Amino acid sequence: MEVQAQAGSRVPGQPWGAHCRRVAALACELGRRLRLPPAELIALEEAALHHHAELSPAAGEAASPDLSPPARAILHGFRNPEEPVGGRAAAILRVAEAFAERVEFLPFQPAALEQIIDEMNWLAQKGLYDPVVTTHLTALVSIRLEDLLETVHRLPVFPAVALRALMIPPEEETSLEQMESLVSSDQVLAGAIVEAANSAFYNPCRRIATIAQALSYIGVEGARRVVLAQVFRPLFACRALGRLWRHAVETAVKAERLASLSRAVNGQEAFLAGLVHDVGRLALHRLGGVEGERYARLREKGADAVFVEMMLCGFDHGVASAEILRSWSFPAHMVEAVEHHHRPEASRSPMAALLHVAESWSEEAEEEDLPSPRRVQRALKQLGLTADSLKPGAEPEHWLLACLLEAA
Ligand SMILES: [Fe+2]
Ligand SMILES: [Fe+2]
Ligand SMILES: [Fe+2]
Repeated sequence: MEVQAQAGSRVPGQPWGAHCRRVAALACELGRRLRLPPAELIALEEAALHHHAELSPAAGEAASPDLSPPARAILHGFRNPEEPVGGRAAAILRVAEAFAERVEFLPFQPAALEQIIDEMNWLAQKGLYDPVVTTHLTALVSIRLEDLLETVHRLPVFPAVALRALMIPPEEETSLEQMESLVSSDQVLAGAIVEAANSAFYNPCRRIATIAQALSYIGVEGARRVVLAQVFRPLFACRALGRLWRHAVETAVKAERLASLSRAVNGQEAFLAGLVHDVGRLALHRLGGVEGERYARLREKGADAVFVEMMLCGFDHGVASAEILRSWSFPAHMVEAVEHHHRPEASRSPMAALLHVAESWSEEAEEEDLPSPRRVQRALKQLGLTADSLKPGAEPEHWLLACLLEAA
């Protein structure tokens, strides 16, 4: 059984950990469904966010003397189910906490989530949990993969130009010519290449005005990255997805760097896989209706993406990303890697391990999942790398990131 992360792990700058935010988000959603009054919902969230701080001050968590009396009562009822304190809110907190902890210890079989829900319903029948609450928990798992695929069909088709860019060999005599002919076929791409060559990173002594000059400056590899970034940018067009786009580029850059260190994965493929690894999250962002609102609400409450997806779908966005890549006719090994990038131990793909490390190494890592040092270590080992590989290299890595984001 895999331990995904330490419960109650701390988020810098925030007084509670990712686990507590998960529990609070789920408790609030259950409270809404059970029509708790607004004041009780607020107290429930407060109690959930502090359910570890209150219980284990010796573990480095501050005790919570400022906790409001209603939140304190809920916590008391949560810890002492035999006492009639805290009412239904305490019962909700018990279910939310038990569910979150079970998900965090989830073994990686497809039926695992259903097993958790079945077990909790069974324990509710035995009197351990409030059956009304577990019934509402069961009803939360309501988004089917088919629903997501509906939104996938509304995503733009994967541009053929990106695949053509990938097929240009890196170091042949005609590589630059091939890239020039590809870039020249599209005004936007041509503009992006010239813009990248004129960017602060390349800093040419004279302003570059032609595609040929630009390509001789940035080379085939630089051009390929700009092309890929440029063709994927429209997928993340709305403002709310700006961070997701930045994360995609950052992960792509880090995946390529890891590939060059590990040599277990092709660097170009690692870059592309990094760029597209989270396209499944686009599908979730595009979900409309009650489910879409619920997804947004849980995320706003601070629960990480993978937990919300497990809660509402029973699978994580890696599965949705893989479906999108399949519909774009990506090679099977890349689909496999992206599908398992949050649980690389469920696959033998070194690219899945590499994506997991790159993901965990990114600035948005805690937005997506609980950190799991054990899992990252296992993935590093599979790649023949150590934690030292993640130290900054001699060359600052942010230049490419800045250049790509600028060009896009
Ligand atoms: Fe907990
Ligand atoms: Fe992800
Ligand atoms: Fe990601």
